[in-house]
Amino acid sequence: MVWLIGNKGMLGTELSLLFVERGLDFAVSDREIDITDPVVLENFANSKLAQGKRINWVVNCAGYTDVDRAEDDVETCRRLNVDGPGYIASLAYKLHARFIHVSTDYVFGKYSKVSAFGNGEKWPYLEADATNPLGVYATSKRDGEVRVMENTPGAYVMRTSWLYGKYGKNFVTTMLRLMRERDTISVVNDQRGTPTWTYDMADAIFKMIDSIEHPRWDALPPINVPFFGIYHYTNEGDTTWFDFACAIYEKGRKLGLLAKDCEVKPCSSAEYPSKVQRPDYSVLCKDRIRNEISMIIPAWEESLEQFLKELKRCGY
Ligand SMILES: NC(=O)c1ccc[n+]([C@@H]2O[C@H](COP(=O)([O-])OP(=O)(O)OC[C@H]3O[C@@H](n4cnc5c(N)ncnc54)[C@H](OP(=O)(O)O)[C@@H]3O)[C@@H](O)[C@H]2O)c1
Repeated sequence: MVWLIGNKGMLGTELSLLFVERGLDFAVSDREIDITDPVVLENFANSKLAQGKRINWVVNCAGYTDVDRAEDDVETCRRLNVDGPGYIASLAYKLHARFIHVSTDYVFGKYSKVSAFGNGEKWPYLEADATNPLGVYATSKRDGEVRVMENTPGAYVMRTSWLYGKYGKNFVTTMLRLMRERDTISVVNDQRGTPTWTYDMADAIFKMIDSIEHPRWDALPPINVPFFGIYHYTNEGDTTWFDFACAIYEKGRKLGLLAKDCEVKPCSSAEYPSKVQRPDYSVLCKDRIRNEISMIIPAWEESLEQFLKELKRCGY
């Protein structure tokens, strides 16, 4: 069975619904099984064993995700994003389970790769590229990745970016709300990345699990199936927050989610006061996951449209 940790969060809720839809045997935990307490984690795993359930996979969607608040709450953030994933990894190792840990594009900070053609063109980050996180949250996520991989050889660290979905606070629903309330909004136009629908990310995690027949980490996967380490998964393409907001506006108007006009204006990060600097470019290269799992990845515009249609269907 799969143990899904953080099942009440935005991604975790999506994933648990997908597991139900696809008939996977899984157990869940969230805040009630504190990931920063290794004894509590182990007791949970033992309770499943006592019921005759073998945990073959652990998926961690729990974490400290408030990027701005983390700046003033360093200790809690690091306990949740570094120590907690480390404890889960050690337990997964003991259980001989494989472990999927979710991480972020924010492990990359100011773009510093040198263009192959010397023309300043930016290239998506590969899994092996050096990280250079900015701020407490980003650093904690990078350190969490390292801790996880130190504590079990059976870890898959899946980095994703700019997540939005039905089950949590996110950029798309915030934009729709602001566009309903205001006549003008300003959105930063100097940060480039890739919006990712939680449904697609959940599907990628499911496919990762489904593509590996033998779940024990110490049984090496046969050739041609994903082999431990870091994987990037986001929707296809890239954009800025401003262009993303414009697409939300245009599609939202077309679908009747927005009943009135709102002007969306570009601004720079410098004009938008924030406690923490965000990456100027954090587009992730997905060749590894695409090749190893033969995955077709939807374009961000396509997924945004699907998501907005889903909101409309639910009467948002
Ligand atoms: N959101 C994004 O844009 C984004 C982008 C890239 C990567 N990611 C990564 O994707 C993952 C999922 O993100 P998300 O946005 O779905 O997160 P989320 O909605 O904030 O969910 C995190 C979950 O963890 C729970 N939690 C908090 N403290 C816990 C503890 N001590 N023990 C067990 N559970 C605890 C939270 O409960 P409470 O709600 O009660 O605190 C919540 O249910 C995270 O690793 C995040 O870093 C997110």
